[in-house]
Amino acid sequence: MKDIIEMIKTRRCVREYKDDEVSDEDIKLLIDCARYAPSGFNMQPWSFLVVKNKDVMRRLSESGKKSMIPLLEPIKDSSKTASNFLVFLKTRGTDMFYNAPVLVIILGNKNAPTVDVDCAMAAQNMMLAAHSKGIGSCWIGGVLPALMDESILKELGAPPGYKAVAPLIFGYPKGKIPVPQKIEPEVKWLR
Ligand SMILES: Cc1cc2nc3c(=O)[nH]c(=O)nc-3n(C[C@H](O)[C@H](O)[C@H](O)COP(=O)(O)O)c2cc1C
Repeated sequence: MKDIIEMIKTRRCVREYKDDEVSDEDIKLLIDCARYAPSGFNMQPWSFLVVKNKDVMRRLSESGKKSMIPLLEPIKDSSKTASNFLVFLKTRGTDMFYNAPVLVIILGNKNAPTVDVDCAMAAQNMMLAAHSKGIGSCWIGGVLPALMDESILKELGAPPGYKAVAPLIFGYPKGKIPVPQKIEPEVKWLR
């Protein structure tokens, strides 16, 4: 067991993966860690879709690109990151899931008042647990606009009344990942 502080500080969003698959046992362990996250009223409003099917992931990535491109066009001149992401999405053959071997979509029960925060907590548990096992991860928010389409969610097998909150990819990292800039936040102490 590695030190939790070290895990928090060394976890990175991974965008390049080896072909090696993540075992079902490891995915089950990550989901088990997710369910220990705190949740408003302890409602535990999450459900999980595990996608290992390459064809399903490819089609989802294509739908994700189609939905995301029109959202980025109007802001491309005001954000360098948005404009770079737009170029990536428009490049033929790029995969929103960076060829990761598995996608886990955390779904949230729409009736839970704190569903988004709860599922984000569960997501962080999964990403940290993955990191402690040498498995890389990345939250792929870019695919969420496509997942707002009820028919896509239904096709994926989401239970009725649930929405997609956290699409997470997992896999074994290829190469070293640079640490992105981490800004010192403003902190006010009242004593
Ligand atoms: C809500 C959310 C949505 C994100 N969506 C994407 C995405 O669509 N594609 C991507 O490559 N990274 C995405 N990321 C990853 C962030 O870009 C990444 O966490 C950030 O650059 C900081 O890097 P770090 O995770 O290595 O600290 C997302 C992260 C969050 C929390």
